[in-house]
Amino acid sequence: MERQEFLTKLGISLAAVCVGCNLASCGSDAKSDDPTPTPDPGTGPMISVNLDTEIKNIGDFKVAGGVILVRLAQANAADSFTAVQVACTHQGTSINYNTAQGKFICPNHLSEFSTAGAVLKGPAVTALKKYTVTITGSALTVTA
Ligand code: FES
Repeated sequence: MERQEFLTKLGISLAAVCVGCNLASCGSDAKSDDPTPTPDPGTGPMISVNLDTEIKNIGDFKVAGGVILVRLAQANAADSFTAVQVACTHQGTSINYNTAQGKFICPNHLSEFSTAGAVLKGPAVTALKKYTVTITGSALTVTA
C-alpha cells in the first residue's frame, strides 16, 4: 500500500468514526439534559380551557405548551386540577396520567410521579415542574 493510499483510507476511517461519535451523542446520555420546558413569561397562559366544554371528567387531560393538565376531582376549583411538565425528567419522553393509580407514569422506562410532580419511582430522580392553575368562572388557565 502506497503512503498516499494509506492516508486516504485513514481519512475515510476517521470520518466514519466521527460520524459514529455524533450518532452516539444522540443516545440516552444526550437526552438526559434537563427537558423542563422553558416558557417565555411574556407569552401568557400555557393552557387555556373552557370548563363548560373541556376536561369535564376526572382523569380527562389536555397537553399543550409542554404541559399536561389533568382533572383530579369533579369541582371546578383550582385544586381539582394539576398541571406539570409533560416531558419526563429522565430522558424527555411524554408522560401519561394513570387515573386508576392516581399518578403520572412514563411509558419509556416506567418512572412514576405524584400528581404534584414528585418522583415516586425511578429511574427519574428529578421532580416534574409544576405549574399554576387559575380558574375564573368557567375559564381555566395554566401559567408558569
Ligand atoms: S424517559 Fe426514562 S423514565 Fe421517562
